[in-house]
Formats: sequence, structure tokens, C-alpha cells
Amino acid sequence: MKGVILAGGLGTRLYPLTYATNKHLLPIFDKPMIFYPISTLIQAGIKEILVVVSGPYAGHFIRVLKNGKELGVDHLEFAYQEKPDGGIADALLLAEEFADGRDICVILGDNTTDAKIKDSIDGFQDGALLFFKKIEDPESLRRFGVAVFDKDNKLLKIEEKPKNPQSQFAATGLYVYDNKVFDYIRKCSPSWRQEIEITDVNNHYIARGKANWTNLSGFWSDSGTFETLYLANSYWAKKHEDRQNS
Ligand code: G1P
Repeated sequence: MKGVILAGGLGTRLYPLTYATNKHLLPIFDKPMIFYPISTLIQAGIKEILVVVSGPYAGHFIRVLKNGKELGVDHLEFAYQEKPDGGIADALLLAEEFADGRDICVILGDNTTDAKIKDSIDGFQDGALLFFKKIEDPESLRRFGVAVFDKDNKLLKIEEKPKNPQSQFAATGLYVYDNKVFDYIRKCSPSWRQEIEITDVNNHYIARGKANWTNLSGFWSDSGTFETLYLANSYWAKKHEDRQNS
């Protein structure tokens, strides 16, 4: 399995913090944000990693990550997304050559989690594996892709940013795909926000009965808004303090 970290975009929701660098290089407690998804992949045994970057500060990544060796990465590649606002799936298309027919674990560069995903990764066979998280607050839920289940708890589809969420399970930015993902991305059209949505790609897998899902245990948050950036910082700072005191 290879790893892909999507770290493009302009980070407009975090202006003015992202006027002078890329969102994924902002601090989460004592590390740049992107160190966290890298460490999630490394802990799962994934050491060949592609980072998709875009926007005016794409060059900053190499100064921070260098060749990845200090972080335990065996092979680090970068790809440049021409359209920084093209969306997650548009960025993922750039990973086709890197994937080279193999399965990929995709993680959004602004997602931090302390969940251990190695067993899920090791058990992956084909199709897609989607990691969901139960979110209690309906207002937060509306910012995400939200799962829709039938009465037997079978996953029917994911709705992107629904006004009336049909469940409490949000799609996190963590996905495992077989090599069909690139064909499904090519089938998708831009959404109302003019992005190729990862939710549409996931719905292709679900419609074909090729998507499994699992609950992401432990802490998970994105960091794309002031509130979630603060939440992630508080969580990781507290975790560090607890470790020091134990
Ligand atoms: C994206 C996905 C959404 C997912 C979220 C997780 O949202 O489109 O389905 O729940 O990441 O962080 P975006 O950050 O593009 O609004």
C-alpha cells in the first residue's frame, strides 16, 4: 500500500493566517500540521508517500519535509495541482502514476487523528474502505460528507454538506482505495462549489457494492477553520502534557 497526502488548496477559511504560507504548514501544537497525517501513515506501515501540493507556497513544503527521512518516510514524492481550488478528487488524480496499479491510503493534510489504522490497512482487499466518525453536534456535521444508511444499517450513500444530515456519521478525510479510483474520478463532474468531490467518488464505490466503512477510533478533527485549528491544537497540547505527567 502506498500513501497519498492531499495538501493543496488556498486555505481561504483561515485568512489571514494563510496569507504567507500554506495551511498544512501551520502549527498544531509543536509540529507543522502535515507531520500528523505523515505519522498516521508511517504508523500503519506506509512509507512510500506522495504529497499533492498547490498554490503560491507549494515550494515551502520541501523546506519543511526535505526528503522525509527524519519523519521515517522511505520515499517522498511531490505532485503539483494546477488548480488549487479543483477539489480533493482532482488532486488525487495526480497520484495515478505514483500508485502504479497498487492500493492507496489517502489522507487529507489537515486531518489529525490518534487512531491506529494498521489493522484496517492490513485487512484491505479491494474496493474502498471509508473511515467515519460519529459527530454529535448537528452544526459541525453539516460541514462534512455525511453517511446515509437504510434501516438495516447498510450504507446507501454519502451526502456532501447536507442541510438535514441523515445520520451522525461524518466521512473523515481518510480513505483506502484500489486502483479503480482514478476511473471513478474521471466519471465525476464538478459540484455546486465547482470541485470534483471525493464524496462523488465514494458514491461510485458504494453504488457498486464495493465500499466498506469502519469507525475511526480516538480523536479526529480537520483543521481548516479557526475553530477546528484551535480544537486540534488544544487536543494535541493536552495529550503532550498528559504524557509528560504520566
Ligand atoms: C472534505 C470532504 C468531506 C469530508 C471532509 C473531512 O470537506 O469533502 O466529505 O467530510 O473533507 O475533513 P472540505 O474540507 O473540502 O470542506
